[in-house]
Amino acid sequence: MPHNRAMALEFNSAVKQIPVYPAAAGYAQSGPLVRLASNESPYPPLAAVVAAASAALEGVNRYPDPTSARLRGALADRYGVPAERIAVGNGSCDILLAMGEALLEPGAELVYAWPSFSVYPQLEAASGARGIRVALDAHECHDLDAMASEITVATRLVIVCNPNNPTSTAIGLEQIAAFVARVPASVCVLIDEAYCEFNLLDDPDASIALLDRHPNLALLRTFSKIYGLCGLRVGYALCGSRDLPDALNAVRQPFFLNTAAQAAALEALAHQDEVARRVERVAVARVQMHDGLTELGLRPAASQANFCWFALGEGRDEAEIVDGLASQGVLVRAGSALGREGALRVSYGTPTENERFLEVLAGLL
Ligand SMILES: Cc1ncc(COP(=O)(O)O)c(C=O)c1O
Repeated sequence: MPHNRAMALEFNSAVKQIPVYPAAAGYAQSGPLVRLASNESPYPPLAAVVAAASAALEGVNRYPDPTSARLRGALADRYGVPAERIAVGNGSCDILLAMGEALLEPGAELVYAWPSFSVYPQLEAASGARGIRVALDAHECHDLDAMASEITVATRLVIVCNPNNPTSTAIGLEQIAAFVARVPASVCVLIDEAYCEFNLLDDPDASIALLDRHPNLALLRTFSKIYGLCGLRVGYALCGSRDLPDALNAVRQPFFLNTAAQAAALEALAHQDEVARRVERVAVARVQMHDGLTELGLRPAASQANFCWFALGEGRDEAEIVDGLASQGVLVRAGSALGREGALRVSYGTPTENERFLEVLAGLL
């Protein structure tokens, strides 16, 4: 066949359906930016964590341990969940996408709230399953009754993001427990707990007890937020049965978690005193941001996360404000990129960064 330059590649039809992840801008910018756009930790990793990752680099002529045995063992010890019921991944996004692949297919259904984490729509688009988005309630919280009523015989996966990204709100464990009890045992319930350590409504680890009662439950967590290791990509899922980790491993490439990431996460886990310090700093930032925004006449949602969410109010142009902040070196996320126009999601930075954000915002309003 003659070579035809104009002939286009033919892709899997799912590719066109997959939404582009709304990544934050500004990665290429240098200079003194206030980066409040990606719910990152403003604090650098501990020296011991950097040292562990650096030491691991000495051995990268070998493949990483494909079972991440030491990391999964440490997670098992910390949470009292057997290692065979713990899946790790190249960020918790890796686990999310593998869940889509392992559980969904055309004809199947996925239920999640909206607005919620921007990766969830990718699961239905990639698999050809039907996604059912359930609106948040008037307080920007998950409406669990409405979500339960969307479950049908076709449902394979229900996702509850607690605390919810982008709205920062959380629901109490009692409500979560009652919801999980209502879901048929053949339907996987994923509680995405990426921000659970910042949630002061309940003990962040209290949800783990539910795993013993519900083999269909999984709790998704990450080293990206509280541990501040998002640049290395490590997430994990604590699961109610070993079937889910086995299925996730079946659909993924063999060496999905690199050597440096495994070593850094293992070391970070040993520094729970630092975790406690960071939780405290976030609680202080929450008050600083809440008070500052309230003084500007805004009404942020009740945050249990390391970020806040608020409507800008009638007559204010979201893009103008986001651009105005960026032009003065403050990066935040526009609600329209996250499922709701006219709102902003702003991560908590250091006290100085938060002050700078509030000052620039005040000038723009
Ligand atoms: C709710 C939620 N889940 C999961 C993730 C994924 O995090 P990672 O892949 O870095 O673990 C994020 C990241 O922002 C998130 O907000």
